[in-house]
Amino acid sequence: MPGAYRIALIGGDGIGPEVTDAALSVLDAAEARFGFTTERTPLAWSAQLYIGGERVTPEMIEPLRKYDAVLLGAIGHPDAPRGLPEMDIVFGLRRGLDLFVNLRPLVLYDERLCPLKGRTAADVDMVVVRENTEDVYGMPGRTEAAGTADETVSTEMRFTRRGTERIIRYAFELARSRPRKRLTLVDKANAIRIQDLHRRVFEEVAREFPDVERDAMYVDAASMWMVLHPERFDVIVTTNLFGDIISDLGAALCGGLGSGASGNIHPGRVSVFEPIHGSAPKYAGQGVASPIGAIGAVALMLEHLGEREAGKAIDAAIRKGFTTGRIPGIEAGSAPTKAVARVVAQAL
Ligand code: IPM
Ligand code: MG
Repeated sequence: MPGAYRIALIGGDGIGPEVTDAALSVLDAAEARFGFTTERTPLAWSAQLYIGGERVTPEMIEPLRKYDAVLLGAIGHPDAPRGLPEMDIVFGLRRGLDLFVNLRPLVLYDERLCPLKGRTAADVDMVVVRENTEDVYGMPGRTEAAGTADETVSTEMRFTRRGTERIIRYAFELARSRPRKRLTLVDKANAIRIQDLHRRVFEEVAREFPDVERDAMYVDAASMWMVLHPERFDVIVTTNLFGDIISDLGAALCGGLGSGASGNIHPGRVSVFEPIHGSAPKYAGQGVASPIGAIGAVALMLEHLGEREAGKAIDAAIRKGFTTGRIPGIEAGSAPTKAVARVVAQAL
């Protein structure tokens, strides 16, 4: 029986709603070709709400559990209180729904998009598996002696064995499923000494995966190697903060932030899919932002829902759009948002 899925839609702010709409037109085409259906429920959550003093609360997040997946555009508004919508909505979803995996495939669709000389699609093909619920992220922190010369702010960097182990195991499993079967742990265990936990757990879990080749790197070195030798990376597993940073670096290798998609995943449960770019207010409402990240998010969502073939077909359609030149680029303004979605939908 063909699948029927309940999807919650959060367009959000800035270019979020327009790239999400474009991605939904690709979802329509995928439904027509593969025979599954979706029931879509829009939710008016955004950073914009915060300007008027409204907030998204944990009680509003709970009911999302009855959906199969959530598709998110972007959250962020220059006039909203800094960090508050991110805390409530972005981290509210990630922590509230225990979406411990932030899956970020970094795929170079066509070599002309790569800022590095002479690199082909085969050279840049990695996945960042970012831990999504721990670390210094989204913590309230403390301020002492506010406003004086002694003002001191601090926040806790916190990792649990359980949290570390589940993300590392997920990454090993992913690496095992890929042709190169390679996993790199990225941390800063030489300076952040508590990250010795990551080294120990990595070695422990590795015993279950003798077929996966592994190594470990400090994040500064990893940033250098990603630029100099991207081909040496297959799957990368890392902490929340470092994953945030290196996934933008990786997206740049693929042509820009607009190229990347991500899944905030708890295997087997409702999960949230989004482009990795933000709300880009300066391009909002002009129909010039690239929908590739949002379309990629739809592909990841379909894979999560078990519509693997449809997800793969969308990826292939994106790639074809770039290699045939019908999608000219990723930067905002290189092609109208809707036209890019049309190329992908037609290729499906
Ligand atoms: C991301 C974003 C978020 C993050 C922001 C919007 C808080 O940069 O998803 O990578 O830091 O996680
Ligand atoms: Mg980020």
